Amino acid sequence: MVKTDNFQRPVLSLRISITNRCNINCFYCHHDGIIPQEYEMTPKEIERIAQVAKNIGIRKIRLSGGEPLIRDDIIDIVTRISSLKFKDIGLTTNGTLLEKYAQSLKDAGLNRVNVSFDTLNPETYRFITKSSYVDQVKKGIKKAAEVGLYPVKINMVVMRDLNHQEIWDMFKFCKENGAILQLIELLKAESCPDTDFFDDYHYDISIIEEKLKVKADEIKTRYFMQDRKKYFLERGEIEIVRPMDNTEFCKNCTRLRITPDGKLKPCLLRNDNLVDLMEPLRLEYSDKELEKLFLESISNREPYYNQCGL
Ligand code: 5AD
Repeated sequence: MVKTDNFQRPVLSLRISITNRCNINCFYCHHDGIIPQEYEMTPKEIERIAQVAKNIGIRKIRLSGGEPLIRDDIIDIVTRISSLKFKDIGLTTNGTLLEKYAQSLKDAGLNRVNVSFDTLNPETYRFITKSSYVDQVKKGIKKAAEVGLYPVKINMVVMRDLNHQEIWDMFKFCKENGAILQLIELLKAESCPDTDFFDDYHYDISIIEEKLKVKADEIKTRYFMQDRKKYFLERGEIEIVRPMDNTEFCKNCTRLRITPDGKLKPCLLRNDNLVDLMEPLRLEYSDKELEKLFLESISNREPYYNQCGL
C-alpha cells in the first residue's frame, strides 16, 4: 500500500500548510518553504486531499502554516481529517491561540501538537517574534498537556548568544509541563525573508549533542524521522533536529507537503516541482486521477542534499 519514491524512500506522512498567515513574525522563519499565496484551501478541499493521500498509503497528517490556529474553521478542518482515521494527526503552532483551542482540538480528534517556542525570556521573545505572547504561549502549552494532546513537543530553534544559554531552563520548563523538548538547528532557506541572520545566529547543535551523549541514560534513533536522535535524561526527553549538515536528512525523508493554495510539494527546500491539485479538484477529477497526481509528485521526489549518497 505504501508508495516508495525512486530513492527507495517510503512516503508516510503529509504536511498540509493551511495558511500563510501568522500573528507573529519570527525573523528567521522559512515559512515552511512556501512562497506567499492569496488562496487558502477550504475545509472540504483539505478533506478530499487527505482522503486521496490515505488511498495511496499515507498514514500521518500534520497541519502547519503560517499559524494554523489563525483559521477560524480550524476545528472543522481537524474534524474532517479525523473522520478519515489516520494513524496520527499532529499540528504545529506558535502556541499563542492554543489555550483557547486545545480542548476543542482534542475533542475534534487531534493527537499531538508541536509548539514553536524559542525562549522563556520576554525580551528575547519580543526580539525574535516582534510580539509579547510569552505568558500566553506558556498557558497554551500547559493546557495542551492537560487536555491530553500527546505528546506536546516544544520546537526550540537554537541561536547563538540569543537563546543557546537557555536550553537547560527550557528543558526544565518542558519537564514541569509534561512536554518534550525538540532542539532545532537554524536553517538557511531561500524562503526566509533575508538570510543574513544565519551567520549571526547559527549555532552548531553538535556541541549540545556531545553533552547529551554523556548525560543521557538512554539514546534512541528515529529511523523514519530523518534519523533524529532522542536523548532520555533526568526523567525528561530531548530530541535533536539537524537539517543542515545532516547527511541523513534527505535520505530518511518520508514526507510530502501541500501548500495553502493546494499544490503538492515534494521538498521543503524547493519550489520548482510543485503539482497543482485545485484545478483538478474543481474539474471533478476522480479519486484515481487525483491519486495519479500524487504518484507524479512522489516520482519527482529527489534528495536536496546530494551528499546523501542516494
Ligand atoms: N531554521 C530552523 N527551523 C525553522 N523553523 C522555521 N524557520 C526555521 C529556520 N530558519 C521551524 C521552527 C518552527 C517550525 C514551524 O519551523 O522550528 O517551530
